Amino acid sequence: MHISLLLVLPFLCHAQTTSPVQNSTQASSLAALSQFLATSGETAFVNATERVIGTTVGNQFVSEIENAATGNGSFTFFVPNNNAFTGSPPKNITDLNTLAGIFTYHLIEGKFTTDNIASSPGYTLVRTFMNTSQLVQLEGNKSQVLALTNDNGTIKIIGQNTPVQVVSTISLPSNATNPNLKAYVLSAVLDPPPTLSDALFSTNLSAFETAARQTSYIDSLESAHGITIFAPSNQAATQFFANNSSFNISMIAALLGNHVINGSTLYSTQFPFNTTSASGEPLTLSTNSSGAFISSGASTAKIIQPDILTSNGVIHVIDTVLLNTAENQTAANSAFSSASSAAATAAAAEATQTSPVGSSGSSSGPSGSNSTSGGNNKTNHAINPSISLGCAISSLLSLIATWAIVL
Ligand SMILES: *[C@@H]1O[C@H](CO)[C@@H](O)[C@H](O)[C@H]1NC(C)=O
Ligand SMILES: *[C@@H]1O[C@H](CO)[C@@H](O)[C@H](O)[C@H]1NC(C)=O
Ligand SMILES: *[C@@H]1O[C@H](CO)[C@@H](O)[C@H](O)[C@H]1NC(C)=O
Ligand SMILES: *[C@@H]1O[C@H](CO)[C@@H](O)[C@H](O)[C@H]1NC(C)=O
Ligand SMILES: *[C@@H]1O[C@H](CO)[C@@H](O)[C@H](O)[C@H]1NC(C)=O
Ligand SMILES: *[C@@H]1O[C@H](CO)[C@@H](O)[C@H](O)[C@H]1NC(C)=O
Ligand SMILES: *[C@@H]1O[C@H](CO)[C@@H](O)[C@H](O)[C@H]1NC(C)=O
Ligand SMILES: *[C@@H]1O[C@H](CO)[C@@H](O)[C@H](O)[C@H]1NC(C)=O
Ligand SMILES: *[C@@H]1O[C@H](CO)[C@@H](O)[C@H](O)[C@H]1NC(C)=O
Ligand SMILES: *[C@@H]1O[C@H](CO)[C@@H](O)[C@H](O)[C@H]1NC(C)=O
Ligand SMILES: *[C@@H]1O[C@H](CO)[C@@H](O)[C@H](O)[C@H]1NC(C)=O
Ligand SMILES: *[C@@H]1O[C@H](CO)[C@@H](O)[C@H](O)[C@H]1NC(C)=O
Repeated sequence: MHISLLLVLPFLCHAQTTSPVQNSTQASSLAALSQFLATSGETAFVNATERVIGTTVGNQFVSEIENAATGNGSFTFFVPNNNAFTGSPPKNITDLNTLAGIFTYHLIEGKFTTDNIASSPGYTLVRTFMNTSQLVQLEGNKSQVLALTNDNGTIKIIGQNTPVQVVSTISLPSNATNPNLKAYVLSAVLDPPPTLSDALFSTNLSAFETAARQTSYIDSLESAHGITIFAPSNQAATQFFANNSSFNISMIAALLGNHVINGSTLYSTQFPFNTTSASGEPLTLSTNSSGAFISSGASTAKIIQPDILTSNGVIHVIDTVLLNTAENQTAANSAFSSASSAAATAAAAEATQTSPVGSSGSSSGPSGSNSTSGGNNKTNHAINPSISLGCAISSLLSLIATWAIVL
């Protein structure tokens, strides 16, 4: 496979429009992309995109770019600079669909600029096009989100393994492009959110993970499509289990289920809400001027680190364990099935959503408006927004880099 790739690629480079793996739609999409990136001199990403044509996800990405470049919708496109494709240690490419999937994380629904991205330390969550099942397992096949912040006029991406920011704005030729497309040069290729296990590990939530492994509840969490976890900090969980060593496995499982919403990924921009936990008990999320709080039974915890994105949902770190071992399987099942049907409807609506995730703005979208303030202001002012994501996919990014070097 490695050899055949090397044989085919030079041909693609020199005979783009007549390549056997491209059809005319794909060729014109790439031509549009090349045309508007040409002025920026950032051609490595276009070259990399050419290589994934022929894969299912690669073809999907090229159609999405075509639509963004020539359609009427509003879009934001992050183009990693040439440096982003060099310099990492060589590794072999294993899966071009996965690589193409990472590229789709760089295209966003809606036109975002420093005017409508929340100022640091706040942030705005936006919906990307990344929905390939290899990298994203959200409810209803929703696409993954990305967290953007306006740091004194510089757009930065939060929660990445290494700092990533916009280094320049691409000037699009006025004749050839969608006026509602905004394109930026990015300092690196984006890291998609890691798996749940990698996120728990890198966020230092091992005490919660250990309890979940003891009860085998971790399997449900890892295989969930769309999940919200209120994970007690290591300090809180360690102390709690030391003080409650008499809890048996089923009590711990019920307790953990009261820290989870099954079938819905609810970010801080969607606070407050009332819902039902995975154990079937009422779960109340409230906010006030001192922060966001989650209550179950008689316990209330403060959210101390929100919005740790994972491939299948989101983790919010809380400062204490919610002491509730009650459960109601009937209520849990019914909550899960409502969540699933809501997700299918929401996913369809989000296919055309151009406003930030969790904003009160409608799907018609607020290009250039300040709609972030409605949904995100609570987050911006009430919650410590620091996000720490894992480094599980750094090897994938090395693959991308190598690929460019090999070619
Ligand atoms: C992209 O490919 C073109 C055509 O093969 C080449 O001229 C250019 O140098 C490549 N860009 C980068 C950054 O490698
Ligand atoms: C060309 O590729 C696009 C994108 O993958 C696809 O939607 C379209 O059906 C293809 N057209 C033909 C004639 O194969
Ligand atoms: C864009 O809008 C124009 C005018 O409303 C319309 O004629 C055209 O078909 C639209 N193009 C797409 C790709 O939707
Ligand atoms: C790349 O693949 C070849 C053949 O499969 C293998 O021998 C080599 O060790 C691999 N290199 C790396 C860096 O993984
Ligand atoms: C999600 O995608 C898979 C195939 O990729 C499909 O089988 C499934 O029906 C989809 N689910 C929803 C809710 O769209
Ligand atoms: C991903 O989104 C695209 C539209 O952007 C859609 O055509 C495709 O079916 C989606 N894939 C899944 C697995 O839902
Ligand atoms: C923000 O940027 C301006 C110049 O653009 C600079 O004068 C100012 O000191 C910066 N503020 C902070 C807090 O960095
Ligand atoms: C846009 O203008 C440039 C020159 O300014 C030209 O090369 C290009 O072909 C034009 N594109 C379209 C689609 O008209
Ligand atoms: C949640 O329920 C409580 C008690 O019924 C109510 O006071 C609160 O307003 C509800 N919160 C939301 C966001 O609906
Ligand atoms: C369990 O939940 C169901 C459905 O919400 C409810 O009808 C039932 O009364 C609950 N059972 C208990 C013991 O609370
Ligand atoms: C959005 O709000 C910021 C600061 O509050 C302001 O500078 C900017 O002009 C506003 N943008 C729009 C489009 O209203
Ligand atoms: C955020 O909320 C605070 C307090 O509710 C308010 O004073 C402030 O103007 C709001 N900021 C924005 C950008 O809406």
